[in-house]
Amino acid sequence: MDTAQNPGSDHKKTDPPKSVSAYLDPNYWNQRFSNEEHYEWLKDYSHFRHLIQAQIKPNSSVLELGCGNSQLSEELYKDGITEITCIDLSSVAVERMKERLLSKGYEEIKVLEADMLDLPFSEESFDVVIEKGTMDVLFVDSGDPWNPQPATVSKVMAMLEGVHKVLKPDGIFISITFGQPHFRRPFFHNAKFSWSVEWHTFGDGFHYFFFILRKAARPPQVSIVPCSAERQVAAVAGRSRKS
Ligand SMILES: C[S@@+](CC[C@H](N)C(=O)[O-])C[C@H]1O[C@@H](n2cnc3c(N)ncnc32)[C@H](O)[C@@H]1O
Repeated sequence: MDTAQNPGSDHKKTDPPKSVSAYLDPNYWNQRFSNEEHYEWLKDYSHFRHLIQAQIKPNSSVLELGCGNSQLSEELYKDGITEITCIDLSSVAVERMKERLLSKGYEEIKVLEADMLDLPFSEESFDVVIEKGTMDVLFVDSGDPWNPQPATVSKVMAMLEGVHKVLKPDGIFISITFGQPHFRRPFFHNAKFSWSVEWHTFGDGFHYFFFILRKAARPPQVSIVPCSAERQVAAVAGRSRKS
């Protein structure tokens, strides 16, 4: 995970952990959020606002995965998107986010401690699910990005299956990431999902990716010649389906 792409944010510099696996540990995040007021992973809202506005209607219900101490939810709220639920695995992130939103008058925004791999919401609850830099955490110990470890594949598939489930039939999943399309494609195009996939880039110099997965816009597909990562995803997804 790259923590250096945050110029202009008002954060105190936080040292990176000794091992990237720490990003999978809620204790790392609890400790970090105890000392850090605000840190915007990848880029702040102003850089991709035009892309959001083209996708999210003001009356949409929005679920944000892994909110951390980002200002994304309040920026959405200021833009008229008021039905927002944020989740994070870190209890400290959740408590501090609740305090911050309350102090700024955004008490309508709900914040819950929850695991994005096991979403506690019913089917078809949200118009939009959004994440920024949160799915990237699942890849920190993936090994070869062309052929990720089975444990990584299982976690990413658990997350995506949960997202697909909680989206309304015409809902969209927005993934803001530095994960390049060729590494995300085997997951997003898995035959389990009925969403179409498109992406944009933003940022100057270093490009970030803004994926839009629109549910039910295409029938489930199976690749004719799967690449090794697709075979890996299909194999692990098949195993988890049987168990
Ligand atoms: C890289 S930070 C991104 C934070 C924020 N989205 C941003 O853009 O600044 C990853 C966040 O995901 C949270 N997280 C990690 N694993 C999670 C999980 N399984 N479920 C929910 N949140 C998780 C961490 O606590 C952290 O807040």
